[in-house]
Amino acid sequence: MQREQWGSRFGFIMAAAGSAVGLGNIWKFPYLAGTEGGGAFLIVYVGFLVTIGVSLMMAEIAIGRAAHLNPIGAFRKLGGNRWMPVGALGVITAFILLSFYSVVGGWTVAYIVKSISGSLVGGTAEELGQQFGALVSSVGEPIFYHGVFMALTIGIVLAGVAQGIERSVKIMMPALFILLLILVVRSVTLDGAWEGVVFFLTPDWSQVDGGMLSAALGQAFFSLSLGMGALITYGSYLNADANIRSASCWVVGLDTMVAVLAGLMVLPAVFAFNLDPGAGPGLTFITLPAVFGEMWAGAAFQVFFFVMLLIAALTSSISLLAIPVAFFSEQFGIERKKSAVIIGAIIFVMGVPSSLSMGLWADFKILGLPFFDLMSELVDRVLMPVGGMLTALFAGWVAFPKMAEELTNRGTLPFPMLNVWKWMARVFCPLAVGWVMYVGLA
Ligand code: TRP
Repeated sequence: MQREQWGSRFGFIMAAAGSAVGLGNIWKFPYLAGTEGGGAFLIVYVGFLVTIGVSLMMAEIAIGRAAHLNPIGAFRKLGGNRWMPVGALGVITAFILLSFYSVVGGWTVAYIVKSISGSLVGGTAEELGQQFGALVSSVGEPIFYHGVFMALTIGIVLAGVAQGIERSVKIMMPALFILLLILVVRSVTLDGAWEGVVFFLTPDWSQVDGGMLSAALGQAFFSLSLGMGALITYGSYLNADANIRSASCWVVGLDTMVAVLAGLMVLPAVFAFNLDPGAGPGLTFITLPAVFGEMWAGAAFQVFFFVMLLIAALTSSISLLAIPVAFFSEQFGIERKKSAVIIGAIIFVMGVPSSLSMGLWADFKILGLPFFDLMSELVDRVLMPVGGMLTALFAGWVAFPKMAEELTNRGTLPFPMLNVWKWMARVFCPLAVGWVMYVGLA
């Protein structure tokens, strides 16, 4: 059977940028910048993105294209059976991440419905906090929306790489940019917004410490979808003459831009209404609706915002589901449609305990953590960094000749920094990731 391919370079870049741009950029980054002290965090974060982030992204895409296989098949083909577990780790990580990512995706669907029906407008931050708490801690409602979100994800993935994923991201990503720009303009033109812009862009170097550095690198990793084979999978559908280096730079550039714009959308609005930028995870679901409630035409901007958040989440969730779907359809010859539905259903079921752990099962803790937090910490602190570290070591030491071929398109595309890249992959990336993991677990 002919293996599927992306229809165009633009399509691939939109798909990979869609994977990268997600809840991590719009939900997590602004609140991290808020709690970690603003400008200094931003600079450190961008520094990690353009060094370690770009190098690893190139490695993953090159592994994918060299093998033209899913992550498990790719590690086996390029490194033998010994390396196959690294691919398996990625597929498992994708399963776990998608199970709770989809729960949060479901909240965004619920908030679109609530925004349109008008039930979020006008509340104070406190009332909105109670509303959010009531949604996530109930039983049926969040599970229902988690199901809706998974169904949307499955629907796109089962239609195929070019016909489903590529076609949808080519519409969704430009729509996301337009909505984001509208919201940034609205936010920075509010009275009193300037203070938030200053907070976000002015570095206060006294804020830099080990915890902040490791939060920044962890976020860089998460935001670029590294360490779980997502870009190996997408890279495996890339044609031989595409330039992996420039595509990687585009994806990192777009991802960075969206994070910066999301910061400029959220923080100035929060400052303008004297709310707390350090509110943490509730910032987008509680603080922002409070802002919209005070704002002229806020109800409309609120709908725009949650639609944008849903788009960001969906373009990421389809790339997560595409990882195990590629594996099961390639290794076991299960038809793509069937494997998307079956795997999607399994992941939906795996997400149910995460959702319930916000309410009904809140007292059921493993290692002192509710199930949702346990899964999320496991991915952030263990699975993703281990996957990223082993991928870098593999690309730098084991598969380097293959990587050099891919990164230069078999010698036809000069890459003067090849040696710099090699040592990034061999030493620098693994050390940095190891250190973050150490700080995060200590
Ligand atoms: N990058 C995504 C975000 O910012 C999250 C993510 C991490 C992801 N790893 C991934 C998405 C792998 C798809 C595939 O929200």
